[in-house]
Amino acid sequence: RKRVVAFISGGGSNMLALAKACEAGEYPAEIVAVFSDKPEAGGLAKAQALGLPTRVFERKAYGSKAEHEAAILAALAEIGPDLTCLAGYMRLLSGEFIRAYEGRILNIHPSLLPLFPGLHTHQRALDAGMKVAGCTVHFVTEGMDEGPVIAQSVVPVLIDDTAETLAARVLTVEHKTYAAALKLVASGNVSMRADGTVERLGSETDASAT
Ligand code: GAR
Repeated sequence: RKRVVAFISGGGSNMLALAKACEAGEYPAEIVAVFSDKPEAGGLAKAQALGLPTRVFERKAYGSKAEHEAAILAALAEIGPDLTCLAGYMRLLSGEFIRAYEGRILNIHPSLLPLFPGLHTHQRALDAGMKVAGCTVHFVTEGMDEGPVIAQSVVPVLIDDTAETLAARVLTVEHKTYAAALKLVASGNVSMRADGTVERLGSETDASAT
């Protein structure tokens, strides 16, 4: 089983969904630690309740972004994970960090990338008059919410949606999509080539997230 460190900044519902998926015997991955940049992140207590080791790396405890990332990289090196899953981690990783785990960092973003990267994604989807929304799990490359797509899921936008109601609907499919995407990568069916394209060995059925 591939060993995974999950990174969170908030409620940690995606981290929890991954941890639950990993409880299935045949699932090809396991969460071995949860890292947060926020001591108040609600996901920390959820991880601890599952018996998962947690570490907090607050940005303000370090003099620079480079020192902050160096501390995280050192802690990761002690663990030696196969994969890292960003699960609501609201911080942009440097190119140096990403190169250290090239092709081994996954992220989930609550939009149908490449549409609406960055913040306030649900409000921007509503403002654009979108009739569908969704989520994307992708390999992390330099640049915010870029990198090749592993899996996506779609939900309808309803007539009286607010950013909050849309976010809640998208979040429900995020959990399934992230678990499916991690399974594809951990099993070796999907990987990122050195040129940043995605290689898919499984059938299209395997690759569909929901
Ligand atoms: C999720 O909707 C995730 O897609 C989003 O933050 C939320 C975290 O929820 N991530 C981003 O916006 C990253 N750009 P969670 O802590 O309950 O998993």
